[in-house]
Amino acid sequence: MTPEPQSGNPRPRVFRIIEDEAIVNRLGFNNNGLQQFEASLRETLESPLSSLIGVNIGANQFSAKDDAIEDYVRGLEAFYSLADYIVINISSPNTKGLRDFQLKGEFENLLRVIMNKRHTLALKYDGRKTPISIKVAPDLEERHLRALVGVAIQYEIDAITATNSTVMRPSGLTHKNYDQIGGLSGKPLAPLSNRMIKNISEITQGSIPIIGVGGISNADDAWQKFLVGADLVQLCSALVYRGPTVVKEIVVGLADRAKKYDAANFSSAVKLAREQQKRTGPYI
Ligand SMILES: Cc1cc2nc3c(=O)[nH]c(=O)nc-3n(C[C@H](O)[C@H](O)[C@H](O)COP(=O)(O)O)c2cc1C
Repeated sequence: MTPEPQSGNPRPRVFRIIEDEAIVNRLGFNNNGLQQFEASLRETLESPLSSLIGVNIGANQFSAKDDAIEDYVRGLEAFYSLADYIVINISSPNTKGLRDFQLKGEFENLLRVIMNKRHTLALKYDGRKTPISIKVAPDLEERHLRALVGVAIQYEIDAITATNSTVMRPSGLTHKNYDQIGGLSGKPLAPLSNRMIKNISEITQGSIPIIGVGGISNADDAWQKFLVGADLVQLCSALVYRGPTVVKEIVVGLADRAKKYDAANFSSAVKLAREQQKRTGPYI
């Protein structure tokens, strides 16, 4: 979501690579703007829902740097009392300058404003603390990642979502659509995303929950995310290739894997599985 409606980049802007279950997209946050989405979200919430709602917020394409920070604030204000959690997207490759917010100084400027606003909103909404996650790119250099995580810990961010799509093209990918400009997602993203999750988990020592995303298309992929350090998982491209039933398949598959550890709950099974992996070899 961006505060103002925008049409995004010219079409074509989404490219499938069916053989690899991959996608390259350069949509550029095409959306109807905050006001319309807020109204439709309120309507949706009139009927009871069993699922969580996360709202992912970004900046408008033509917002200057300072205005971009204000764009995030507007998103936060609009959805603070409606969403179960809010994701600050500073990693889309399709909005110029957006990813610079991942660099230490800019990240700190942004996060200071966001967390101050969160404090004000918590007072406004009877102490409600809507969790805020920061979504990072798989392409961030290790030193920038370390700096970002340091700031995230300092400002007590609630979660890190890792990762967005990549501007890299892992070697061995030959289809012509890989040459398209945009973010690559789906199966070929999994190793990059997993490496990032593992790094974040090591830097934070597990102190910030990680939402693992990137190339999950079955229960094995999802389980692997938990093994490298994710606390929750998400997927996007697999919905395109496998349809919505993929979610149920993964949930059932994960439960099966967890059962083998005879643990009290899923998190305990993951912990045991991670310990076992440590003894038997590297995660990835
Ligand atoms: C068509 C498309 C649109 C996306 N739009 C957004 C977006 O608006 N905000 C965002 O944070 N990520 C966006 N993403 C990235 C996904 O949320 C996800 O981080 C990425 O695709 C990796 O997961 P996957 O391999 O399961 O698709 C988009 C991905 C695709 C394929």
